[in-house]
Amino acid sequence: MDLKGKKIVLGLTGGVACYKSAELCRALVKRGASVQVVMTEAALHFIGAVTMQALSGHTVYTDQWDPRVANNMAHIDLTRGADAVLISPCSADFIRKLAHGACDDLLSTLCVARPRHVPLLVAPAMNVEMWENPATMRNVAQLREDGIHILGPAAGSQACGETGYGRMLEPEELVDELIASFQHKVLLGRRVLITAGPTFEPIDPVRGITNLSSGKMGYAVARAAHEAGAEVTLVSGPTSLPTPHGVRRIDVLTAQQMHDAVMAGIEGQHVFVGVAAVADWRVANASDQKLKKQEGGGAPQLEFVQNADILASVASTTSLSGWPYCVGFAAESENLMEFGAAKRERKGIPLLVGNIGPQTFGQDDNTIILFDESGHTVLPRADKLTLARQLVSEIAKRLERRSLLT
Ligand code: C5P
Repeated sequence: MDLKGKKIVLGLTGGVACYKSAELCRALVKRGASVQVVMTEAALHFIGAVTMQALSGHTVYTDQWDPRVANNMAHIDLTRGADAVLISPCSADFIRKLAHGACDDLLSTLCVARPRHVPLLVAPAMNVEMWENPATMRNVAQLREDGIHILGPAAGSQACGETGYGRMLEPEELVDELIASFQHKVLLGRRVLITAGPTFEPIDPVRGITNLSSGKMGYAVARAAHEAGAEVTLVSGPTSLPTPHGVRRIDVLTAQQMHDAVMAGIEGQHVFVGVAAVADWRVANASDQKLKKQEGGGAPQLEFVQNADILASVASTTSLSGWPYCVGFAAESENLMEFGAAKRERKGIPLLVGNIGPQTFGQDDNTIILFDESGHTVLPRADKLTLARQLVSEIAKRLERRSLLT
């Protein structure tokens, strides 16, 4: 229930993507938001007000002169007490109106009349040529300058049969972006590199050694860092998770590939968070061909060689500049308190996040303990995204302290 108690004004303008906004409305309600729909006349050509009314559970307003509004002040009343206004889909024409402060229908008027603290987010949806038209680009630049958040658009095939930028973001992506807009931007302007998931160490072309890490915690940290305003790169071992919206993802398989991808991208990063469960060893004598069963039941003899410790490698590069700020994770099966503090010192890092291994792998919930130079702090059991947001704010506090010291 990420949007519990939030009041969202959802504006629909003319575009075929209106059909996605029915799903969007439902997704917002499911997450606990109270959704007030306002539609332009053009939007009504694409989807009925009845559909939006049934999905939102509130009267849909379309007309500035609606006789049902006793004081004729819908353009004022609808945004009072609102937490955000989201225009989805937002047509090229409505972008033009917003850029010029037009007030010629209910939706444009309420955007201009909304209190300054109520954020306005728009999800453009239009044909690629309309999106790339210099006039549209000019208007979009004006919206950005005015502090309006532009969500997307994405590129791909369009309902008109053409291909390119102009597709509205998917409902789930818009929900994520809306949730992100409510988070404090404590990492704004920071670059964060994160490793996540397991690694896979081949034995032969079809077999390998891996572990039970699902990647959920690392992906949650990536999402939380993006929500906090950071530019996020996620180096991920094999997982089945979708990439958090707005995060750059680099896929790797082995610990060696993860090491190389991290070292290639570490320069200029402010924070490194090693969440991945990296294999400590790889098979030294991996076969190029699939190993065959041997007659008489003999088993292949595997030899192992130790992998480089990515976190320790990054931490050793920080000694001169102090950047990036390194955060490690440790999954222990026992004596977490004792091992956690010792591991932080051994790895030479300022912050180590401890959790109990078997209880965290693949789960949606977790309990974590933060170890730093002044002791430890327990973050009680919660879902991984909640914990990731708390961790991000703890990291931001420590970065703040650092920059005050330098
Ligand atoms: O020593 P241990 O494997 O318990 O340390 C866990 C931490 O070190 C995690 O942050 C993990 O991502 C990181 N690590 C690493 N490279 C390795 C092994 C662990 O970056 N080869």
